[in-house]
Amino acid sequence: MDHSAVKSSPSPPSSSSRHQRWALATSLSTLLCLSILVVVSVAGLLLLLGSSRPLFAALMPRQQQQPEADAEAPWERYVKLAQQAAASRSPSTSPGGVVRDRDAGDEDAEAEDDGVAPAPAPAPAQAPEESCDLFEGRWVRDAARYPMYEAAECPLLSEQVTCRRNGRADAGYEQWRWQPRGCGGVGGGGIEAGLERLRNRRVVFVGDSLNRNMWESLACLVYTAVPDRSRVRVEDVASDYRIFLAMDYNCSVEFIWSPLLVKLETKQDRTRALKLDQLPATLEQIRGADVLVFNTGHWWTHTGNLRAWDHLERDGKMVEMGGDEAFNRALRTWARWVDQNVDTTKTRVFFRSVSPEHKGENWCYNQTSPITEETKIVPWFPRTLVSIVERNIRSMRTPVTYLNVTHLSELRIDAHPSVYTITGEGKPLSMEQRQQPLVYADCSHWCLPGLPDTWNLLLLASLARSPINVH
Ligand SMILES: *[C@@H]1O[C@H](CO)[C@@H](O)[C@H](O)[C@H]1NC(C)=O
Ligand SMILES: *[C@@H]1O[C@H](CO)[C@@H](O)[C@H](O)[C@H]1NC(C)=O
Ligand SMILES: *[C@@H]1O[C@H](CO)[C@@H](O)[C@H](O)[C@H]1NC(C)=O
Repeated sequence: MDHSAVKSSPSPPSSSSRHQRWALATSLSTLLCLSILVVVSVAGLLLLLGSSRPLFAALMPRQQQQPEADAEAPWERYVKLAQQAAASRSPSTSPGGVVRDRDAGDEDAEAEDDGVAPAPAPAPAQAPEESCDLFEGRWVRDAARYPMYEAAECPLLSEQVTCRRNGRADAGYEQWRWQPRGCGGVGGGGIEAGLERLRNRRVVFVGDSLNRNMWESLACLVYTAVPDRSRVRVEDVASDYRIFLAMDYNCSVEFIWSPLLVKLETKQDRTRALKLDQLPATLEQIRGADVLVFNTGHWWTHTGNLRAWDHLERDGKMVEMGGDEAFNRALRTWARWVDQNVDTTKTRVFFRSVSPEHKGENWCYNQTSPITEETKIVPWFPRTLVSIVERNIRSMRTPVTYLNVTHLSELRIDAHPSVYTITGEGKPLSMEQRQQPLVYADCSHWCLPGLPDTWNLLLLASLARSPINVH
């Protein structure tokens, strides 16, 4: 999850120029390098702590500590937006019923709000929608429709990512809408239609803290949309299994903590074995789910003290192999399990691509707007691991929809908690701590409301499409 990991993992030929750049950057400043290590340790610690600390004990409506500046209550605002969206969905406002390519020539992002709402998430039969790539496009400021909920409105949000509550004053990062090229648009008015797709369904996220970030977002989207907010529940079934239930939708949004997907076992002598040929028993819980969203990635790049395992195992025996090979074996185990255990007539399977961090040259600290020049993106995650994910998905019998959010997220340098997060002890950073961003800034997770809401809109939009495998 960090640059030191990138440096120390076997250097793939395809990314040698990136490594050279890194080598140059680090030789320029040993100090920076040391600082990054500190950041990395803290971030790693946060990830670990985040995994064990309950996000919330119960769904207790929180006292609103920060009265919203808006005179309008968030709920009224939501209802109004929902009505506007419903109105704009009527055929008369959509010329000829044709979904206009809003990318053609409207370069001024601020001028986007021209009264013609983006088409809501499409009905399944709309052919033009099927053909566009949801993950290619650009970010458009849309303060009228975003954020889709207020931080103060959703008691499910964890301290770690509720940037507003932790003192983040700028709100621009909450107001960006993803505009896929050649698509009518996702989100905005489409949210209720999208959420309808969750009715009578079980959605299960399986993965690391970034998938938990995404789970929190979807739970909040559902929570703020249900007519009666008292008819929801959150249940911690186990330390690694949490369920959000919306009774009015007869829908559950669940999260299973499994950051490496394969089984990590602590032996009696306290050594930790990563079993490359076994999945954790908790995965049995996903049987019968309607929608599965997997991810893994960051934990495979941890090195040194941050690495989650002491040794690798196959067939119950200790084995030695490189990081890439271990990752590939783990994904094969996962892929085979899915192929053998998932009933594709009932279940849609998604894999969310790597969530980028913003460190080093692209540090998230103090950033308040997205990257607009593609050339400014400095990918940090080893490309080899990305190819391994894609290759394994391609080889599966089960159609797995790849939520290819890496690139659109790379642009969102402004969307991380940075210093508006919590310490390892779970307290918001103090003023002094905020002044030590090298130590405390979190540039891996994402503020909520924020970017993961878009990931979920893309998930909901993808649900309306037929399943496809990675191209
Ligand atoms: C509620 O949803 C489950 C699937 O999660 C489904 O099996 C069940 O039939 C639904 N109940 C009703 C009353 O629709
Ligand atoms: C970050 O923003 C604060 C407040 O605007 C400013 O004082 C500080 O110099 C900035 N730091 C960097 C590294 O840009
Ligand atoms: C994911 O998106 C990126 C950037 O939009 C694109 O270059 C890449 O080919 C996509 N990957 C897959 C497997 O579709």
